[in-house]
Amino acid sequence: MSIPKDFNDRMLSLGLARVAEQAAIASAKLIGHGDEKAADQAAVNAMREQLNKLDIKGVVVIGEGERDEAPMLYIGEEVGTGTGPGVDIALDPLEGTTLTAKDMPNALTVIAMGPRGSMLHAPDVYMDKLAVGPGLPTDVVTLDMSPSERVAALAKAKGVKNTDITVCILERERHDEMIAEVRSTGAAIRLITDGDVAGVMHCAEAEITGIDMYMGSGGAPEGVLAAAALKCMGGQMYGKLLFRNDDERGRAAKAGITDLDKIYTRDELVTADVIFAATGVTDGSILSGIKRTPGWITTETILMRSKTGSVRRVIYRNPFE
Ligand code: FBP
Repeated sequence: MSIPKDFNDRMLSLGLARVAEQAAIASAKLIGHGDEKAADQAAVNAMREQLNKLDIKGVVVIGEGERDEAPMLYIGEEVGTGTGPGVDIALDPLEGTTLTAKDMPNALTVIAMGPRGSMLHAPDVYMDKLAVGPGLPTDVVTLDMSPSERVAALAKAKGVKNTDITVCILERERHDEMIAEVRSTGAAIRLITDGDVAGVMHCAEAEITGIDMYMGSGGAPEGVLAAAALKCMGGQMYGKLLFRNDDERGRAAKAGITDLDKIYTRDELVTADVIFAATGVTDGSILSGIKRTPGWITTETILMRSKTGSVRRVIYRNPFE
């Protein structure tokens, strides 16, 4: 897909970082207070307020839900001042609401922006996900392989033993068999309780995070956001939508998806160059969480452009009452 000339990703990127920062700051006072909904709402309000200051004609394509389910940042909501380029926006104002409520690692605010039509309009269903970092042969692992075949193929490509591979998986009952099979190969598993956008992003910086591969099912909207991140950081990702009933299949039809069995590559989930920003809410291996000192609040944001592969880490200190 060619990029429209008015999508000036360089100029828009700082604005996007501010959106992620303000959502994180808004949720800061709710870290560790056991109230997922309040933390999410604070992030949603702040993200929307900031987005509406940007000179864009934005449409939310991955958001808080359908219009009748979400009063703000619903799919199809128009955001921005209404002047400037037409853009699609994928967002998760608080990725890891429970992580935030319980003050556990890796809660993030996440947003990606690209030209119109640049991101899959994924319905709110599950997605089977598989991701590895950059510098590996194309299709070194695929969704068609069993979990143990993936471990063996990745170890071979990296020139290491199975026991040197660490796989990140969401700790869910539905993953029990997968976890047992990966363990049987000798590979290690980092189980996470939530937050698979961060889980996938970990693969792109394996030397820092210690994670070589992500696998398992989680939210499809989070899958598109993770693909946007990997498109900037490098790495391969595959996603297949999973449907449990007719209602979910109906959601796919409404989103314009006709091939329900398609396996999407990273570049089919995100088809054009995008900008991606995420701010740490709680401390994690990719980003530091929000720090509060008397009178000040400090955030760390990762701001990336897939066109150039540039990755900025922005430390923002601001007076705070
Ligand atoms: P929330 O921030 O909405 O709570 O989502 C967290 C999350 O862990 C995602 O990262 C993941 O994709 C999804 O929930 C997994 O869903 P489930 O909890 O149903 O397994």
